[in-house]
Amino acid sequence: MTAPTVLSPHDTTQFRSVLGHVPTSVAIVTAMSRGGPVGVTVGSFSSVSLDPPLVNFFIDRSSRTWPRLNESSTFTVNVLGAGHGHLCRAFSRRGVDRFDGVAWQPSEAGNPVLEDAMVALDCTRYKIDLLGDHIQVVGRVDAMQIRTAGLPLVFHRGDFLQFGAA
Ligand SMILES: Cc1cc2nc3c(=O)[nH]c(=O)nc-3n(C[C@H](O)[C@H](O)[C@H](O)COP(=O)(O)O)c2cc1C
Repeated sequence: MTAPTVLSPHDTTQFRSVLGHVPTSVAIVTAMSRGGPVGVTVGSFSSVSLDPPLVNFFIDRSSRTWPRLNESSTFTVNVLGAGHGHLCRAFSRRGVDRFDGVAWQPSEAGNPVLEDAMVALDCTRYKIDLLGDHIQVVGRVDAMQIRTAGLPLVFHRGDFLQFGAA
C-alpha cells in the first residue's frame, strides 16, 4: 500500500484538491428575478428531509447571482444528465447571458425549467443560514418531475466523469 498524501485543511488549494476527489451531481438553480431569468451551477445540491420534503444547496457569499435568486421566494433545481456539461459551464460563467441559446419553460412557480434537465424540483425557500463563506439554502419541494431517464452528469476532480460502456 502506498503512503497516503496528508494535506492541510487550512490551505484552500489543498482543501479544494481533496474535496475535488468527492464526486458531485451538477444542478442549475434557477429563479425569475425582476430583471428576468437567473441561474447558477451548483455541485452542492442534496436532499435533506423526507417529511417535510426538503432539499438544499450552498451558494458562495460572494455570488453575484445570489442576490437576484434571493429576490424570489421560490427556486427550481434543474439536475443535469450526462452529456450536458456545456450547461454546467455556461451557468458558471460570469459576464455572459447564461440563458443564451438555452431552451426552457416556466415551472408552476414561474421559474425556468431547462429543457435538457434530467430532474426538476420546484421549491419554496424554507430556511437560509450563513455557514462560513457560504449560504445554506434549504427549500421545501412543492412539485417535481423526472424529465429524462439516463446517466447523471458527475463532476469529479475538475472534470466530468466519463462513463464507460457497461
Ligand atoms: C461543477 C461546478 C459546481 C459548482 N458548485 C457551486 C456551488 O455549489 N456553490 C457555489 O456558490 N458555486 C458553485 N460553482 C460556481 C458557480 O457556478 C459560479 O461560477 C460562481 O458562483 C460565480 O458566478 P456568480 O457570481 O453568478 O454566482 C460551481 C461551478 C461548477 C463548474
